[in-house]
Amino acid sequence: MRSYWFNKLTLVFGSRLPLNWLLLCLVSVFVLIKLLGSSSSIAFDLGISGSLRDQYSNYRRLKEHEASDYLQFKSLSFNANRLADIGLCGKNREFYVPCYNVSANLLAGYKDGEEFDRHCEASQDQQHCLVRPPKDYKIPLSWPTGRDIIWSGNVKLSKEQFLSSGSMTKRLMLLEENQISFHSDDELLVDGVKDYSRLIAELIGLGSDSEFSQAGLHNVLDIGCGFGSFGAHLLSLNVMAVCTAAYELTGSQVQVALERGLPAVIGNFISKQLPFPSLSYDMVHCAQCGIIWDDKGGLFLIEVDRVLKPGGYVVLTSPSSAQQLSSSNGKKASPSKPIEEFSLKLCWNLLAQHEETSIWQKTTDANCYTSRKGVIRPCEGEDVQSYYRPLVDCISGTTSKRWAPVNNRSSDNLIFFEVHGVHSDDFYEDMDFWRSAVNNYWSLLSPLIFSDHPKRPGDEDPLPPHNMLRNVMDMNAHYGGFSAALQESGKSVWVMNVVPTNARNTLPLIIERGFAGVMHDWCEPFPTYTRTYDMLHGDGILSELSLLRCNIEDLLFEMDRILRPEGWVILSDKVGLIEQTRMLASQIRWEARVIDPENGSDQRLLICQKPFVRK
Ligand SMILES: *[C@@H]1O[C@H](CO)[C@@H](O)[C@H](O)[C@H]1NC(C)=O
Ligand SMILES: *[C@@H]1O[C@H](CO)[C@@H](O)[C@H](O)[C@H]1NC(C)=O
Ligand SMILES: *[C@@H]1O[C@H](CO)[C@@H](O)[C@H](O)[C@H]1NC(C)=O
Repeated sequence: MRSYWFNKLTLVFGSRLPLNWLLLCLVSVFVLIKLLGSSSSIAFDLGISGSLRDQYSNYRRLKEHEASDYLQFKSLSFNANRLADIGLCGKNREFYVPCYNVSANLLAGYKDGEEFDRHCEASQDQQHCLVRPPKDYKIPLSWPTGRDIIWSGNVKLSKEQFLSSGSMTKRLMLLEENQISFHSDDELLVDGVKDYSRLIAELIGLGSDSEFSQAGLHNVLDIGCGFGSFGAHLLSLNVMAVCTAAYELTGSQVQVALERGLPAVIGNFISKQLPFPSLSYDMVHCAQCGIIWDDKGGLFLIEVDRVLKPGGYVVLTSPSSAQQLSSSNGKKASPSKPIEEFSLKLCWNLLAQHEETSIWQKTTDANCYTSRKGVIRPCEGEDVQSYYRPLVDCISGTTSKRWAPVNNRSSDNLIFFEVHGVHSDDFYEDMDFWRSAVNNYWSLLSPLIFSDHPKRPGDEDPLPPHNMLRNVMDMNAHYGGFSAALQESGKSVWVMNVVPTNARNTLPLIIERGFAGVMHDWCEPFPTYTRTYDMLHGDGILSELSLLRCNIEDLLFEMDRILRPEGWVILSDKVGLIEQTRMLASQIRWEARVIDPENGSDQRLLICQKPFVRK
């Protein structure tokens, strides 16, 4: 299943070869030299001059080479030892999400609800194994069909969740035995997502929801997004909606949303901040999201305020909160009263209330927090980068340069660059680089790049395009240039832009560009479910990581966990790190190939594909 190219390397460098293999080794070296000599045929220019036509002809040559080399080597490599045999995890890990093991967290002493929080240190020291797909896993349908129909075997739903028609945002329907369908917009009745969205638009004073984006609404955080239907509708209106919800064992909102190709990330409202910077979102939305907002003295509402831009909207829809509150706290108070009182302390204006929906607007006036009585005070000191820090009881971001109202956003690029501390030349150079890189990357994503590409069990060769991608992660997003270039070229993907915690914090800029993004420490597992991304892209992430306490092996196992079968990995880095990673990639059974951009630098590309392995 592995690239034959790697087999050759194992033959050459393997340490415990019997003597009578020496001859074969010599032959290997010879062929390796021949191969390296001919490497110009697989190299191409990653720079601006690389044209699509050239790449295709390079492909053909590559394939021809491989065919002949493969014949010569088939007999030699059949028995090559793996460096170590890495096994598949057991059935209990088919849907494994690290850091959320409640029994381990309890053992580690977390209590009072904090056992449901993210605690990565509590579930460490597990042996490495490869998470296998469930028995009836199927490759997701391509976008946009996959948004409305998913394979039921790919997600973990309980029987009740399966059969219930749920709330407005949580409605699903069993189509056939193995498919789940989500009502598309047109089928929805009076209480449908479309009408709901229109209602929100009216309540904030717009003629229709198609005006959201003109009104400055670019980024929405949808807390407890049901199965993502509201977000899917917003995406169709050019508004980026990111779903965040607590980790759930079954019926996970984040898992289902991602399976549908919608942006989502696990995020808990328990004791820690969300991994987003302050002043990120134009709207925070919660429809029956199950959070008891007046719990913990309003700390959750302060957290909502933190991630909200000045002039941004808070939309809460909660028909059952009355019962919820009285049953959980024994209070008789009317449902929204505590929130109404607290919203005054936050300098939120109640804009409108309609039946179960209430909308507040965050103040645009940073002085509000010092001029009024009884208002919560601004936090002292600099606005720090938030990465699962404890919740705070003060207002964040009031002294930030980024304090600018959503409905009066400057269209002046110079102000944008100044606010985000970026030099415009750097920014445009980055953009140009990614434009041409994306052009080149895309054509690489074909099984042709590997000589002995495995077919799906029982399948014919997939029809073109071989590169059906929707959920893409940029593991080291910088300015979000990769994301922008993909969008510009009209690819039907969205990108989760990850800014490593040790890198420069460009996340506010990325989110301001209207992209999805999150902060992450790559020494820890990523807060997502198994098999949720179609492609992982990491430019320089290996270099970043090699400076830290964690190792590349852990990272590759984590990448394997979150990558769907037949998903792609593209890493670019220094040649030494790439070679080292290629070895590891082959050990975890990825197809792997190193590409030399051949511009005289020591940079290399590593292109990998995760196979569809069942046992
Ligand atoms: C969760 O933690 C418990 C206690 O440490 C452990 O026995 C169990 O195997 C863990 N579960 C998973 C799925 O790793
Ligand atoms: C909008 O912003 C500009 C400068 O960026 C400012 O002069 C103007 O007063 C603002 N308008 C409102 C209504 O806040
Ligand atoms: C070669 O390409 C790499 C990206 O793969 C880039 O980082 C580097 O600056 C380029 N070197 C030259 C000399 O153009």
